[in-house]
Amino acid sequence: MEKTFIMIKPDGVRRGLMGEIIGRIERKGFKITKAKLFKPNVELVENHYMEHREKDFFNELVNFIAEDLVMAMKVEGEAVIEVMRLMIGHRDFKVASPGTIRGDFANTITQNIIHGSDSLESAKRELNLWFEEF
Ligand code: GTP
Ligand code: MG
Repeated sequence: MEKTFIMIKPDGVRRGLMGEIIGRIERKGFKITKAKLFKPNVELVENHYMEHREKDFFNELVNFIAEDLVMAMKVEGEAVIEVMRLMIGHRDFKVASPGTIRGDFANTITQNIIHGSDSLESAKRELNLWFEEF
């Protein structure tokens, strides 16, 4: 079964959206097989968002994620990487369709509620990084 890495970002946790998001994942029929609610350190978050290290928003993004609790999850199911990205919606809240998690709940570009791996390669890398295994 395919596996992906999902993280409810600090704004999602603070706004009390964990139940809503976990409910959507479960109702879709995907299985959450690991979950960890904790405050990640800066080094872990920098590593996670390594592909964006040259971007002008990198520090803002890393500080935001590392400042508070996140819910890190391993989620399994058929085509789960692609389907979770569809359920999450576009990174820009102005573009994200209603019915998607970001379309329904996000209202800023940096604080967009949730992360999902964007490919098999990043899912492997991120699960290894956040859960020290795959
Ligand atoms: P993630 O699942 O978080 O990786 O989002 P994504 O894959 O939909 O988008 P991308 O990887 O391109 O960007 C990573 C994150 O950086 C986004 O989710 C936003 O939180 C943030 N981000 C992206 N673009 C901008 C931007 O132009 N300005 C700011 N401030 N933040 C941005
Ligand atoms: Mg991304």
